[in-house]
Amino acid sequence: MRDFVLIYLNGVRREIRGREALMMLADWLRKEAGLTGTKIVCAEGDCGSCTVLRAFPDLAANAHVDVGVQDGVKVGANVGVIVGANDGANVGAIVGADHATRSAPLEFEAMNSCIVTVAQMDGSHIVTVEGMQCGDELSPAQVAMKQCHASQCGYCTPGFVMAISAMLEKHGDTNGARANVASDSGRRENTASHGGAISAQQIDAKMAANYLTGNLCRCTGYAPIVEAALTVRATEKHSVAGRYSNPAAIADALNTATKSLLIEHDGIKLFAPVSLREAVTFAAQNPGFKVLAAATDMGVQTNKGKPLPRALLSLHLVSELYQAKHSRSGILVGARVTLAQLRRLCETSAPELASFLNLFGSPQIKNVATLVGNIANASPIGDTLPFLLIADAVVHVASRPGGKGPIHKRNIAFTDLYVGYKKLALTPDEIITHVSFNATDSKELLRLYKVSQRKDMDISAISGAFSFTLAGGAKHSNFSNDLQSIAARKTKSPPRVVSARIAFGGVAATPIRMPEIEAALVGEFTMEKAQAVAHMIASAITPLSDVRGSAAYRRVTAAKLFMRYASEVLHA
Ligand SMILES: Cc1cc2nc3c(=O)[nH]c(=O)nc-3n(C[C@H](O)[C@H](O)[C@H](O)COP(=O)(O)OP(=O)(O)OC[C@H]3O[C@@H](n4cnc5c(N)ncnc54)[C@H](O)[C@@H]3O)c2cc1C
Ligand code: FES
Ligand code: FES
Repeated sequence: MRDFVLIYLNGVRREIRGREALMMLADWLRKEAGLTGTKIVCAEGDCGSCTVLRAFPDLAANAHVDVGVQDGVKVGANVGVIVGANDGANVGAIVGADHATRSAPLEFEAMNSCIVTVAQMDGSHIVTVEGMQCGDELSPAQVAMKQCHASQCGYCTPGFVMAISAMLEKHGDTNGARANVASDSGRRENTASHGGAISAQQIDAKMAANYLTGNLCRCTGYAPIVEAALTVRATEKHSVAGRYSNPAAIADALNTATKSLLIEHDGIKLFAPVSLREAVTFAAQNPGFKVLAAATDMGVQTNKGKPLPRALLSLHLVSELYQAKHSRSGILVGARVTLAQLRRLCETSAPELASFLNLFGSPQIKNVATLVGNIANASPIGDTLPFLLIADAVVHVASRPGGKGPIHKRNIAFTDLYVGYKKLALTPDEIITHVSFNATDSKELLRLYKVSQRKDMDISAISGAFSFTLAGGAKHSNFSNDLQSIAARKTKSPPRVVSARIAFGGVAATPIRMPEIEAALVGEFTMEKAQAVAHMIASAITPLSDVRGSAAYRRVTAAKLFMRYASEVLHA
């Protein structure tokens, strides 16, 4: 058992104990590590001023993973591996956990440091803005921000530098140039050919804007900042992965991660076990414990003054929970899988979900926040929940009653999971280990809609998931709304709905599926029928009023979301 958190901070090994391990990372960086380049503005994950780059070595490469095992999950080095923690291309692949895997370069991603405890960073390599320059030479993102005059008061600037650097890590080219760089002003430059470890992909205004979604600037204005992101040049020398993927440090972090972690301070206990057995034993022995996933929810509450729970369980060392894979029965996602990893996993198997996730939080949030956290948060407006309801999701839970004997596992149908406002059908000692759901059938006409006060970075006021299967098997590719298809459809007989699935978030105390409405939809589908069903939906729901919308607004909007879907179906 360890009593210290291990991190590599700008390449330097740090062991952090007790009080400091329970601090928010941004506070710790500024107050204890003296790295004040990282700024704190909102302390709620909304502004990106506290952005740092983080890489977490591939823990799953250390373990044998078997979700079907009922008791005693084997954990040990150099056995079969299911990679779930890295690039989407690898998710689900089975590879050998040899030395080469351990020495693979780290993948650095942006995250907010203000809403996460230091303890949750255990095993991570963290690079702050102070770690970006090489000697006296500024990093490419710093140079670009300077050249584009993209900073005034400078408070947001380190966050933007880190967000742009995260983009370069994924899409930059390491030969010092990018091919065919486009600026938002339309200017194009043909630059030298590219190559190197990081794939060279065209960085355009859309990509730059996506990477900067999580960063706010109050005084400069975004045009010069976006220009900086578009004109930045990556160099081999400044590659963060290249500079900080020290094989000895990676091996050290991986070896340390084979030992469970216990931090105790001031009556608070944070336990991070390496096995599911230890996790469920802790759950049984610590009534009122709270699981810490990325803490994007709890971190905000803590910063607002809510004390940390007395018993915290972090699952970040339980390698089997990083599992993310396709199987014959659908898609299986472990409790440690982030929304960014989920998005990559689902790009072809559930494409509507993948593109819907573009509207979920910012990259800094999605790179750490988990799907299971979104589920267990049990908010009626959790964005993924309507989709999971219609994708026949199943939640896999585990416990060890009394802390003795075998691990008890059971499955809960998603439709039975929410039993009241923010209440789950879990016993107090159960934790969620995985969730599984159906891949999207190519014959389904699936749409996911979200209505929020602003498009990006906002939680929904209301959201809807709709899926019809039509007689004759309408294909996804036919689900288009262009004028030609609309004109062609007008001459056809109305479509016949073979099966319908509908779910909403934000219209009741829990997310809901609507089986009666689904049954009523089977048969010929016309605009008149759609209007009648929209009325049925408005009268069947019992929305709450809150800051995001009144009950009346939500009732009208639910009906309108259905009409939007109906119109897409009728015009498909
Ligand atoms: C800036 C910002 C933007 C956001 N944007 C969105 C958005 O667009 N859409 C949206 O839906 N949400 C959004 N959220 C809310 C939040 O990020 C999501 O709900 C996220 O998925 C939570 O995941 P997490 O890993 O951080 O969970 P945590 O915050 O760590 O956990 C959430 C809850 O789930 C419990 N829990 C976690 N894992 C388990 C487990 N394995 N077993 C049992 N219980 C568990 C925890 O104890 C806690 O009660 C946003 C939050 C922030 C701060
Ligand atoms: S300080 Fe605003 S996101 Fe962290
Ligand atoms: S430069 Fe002042 S907030 Fe961005």
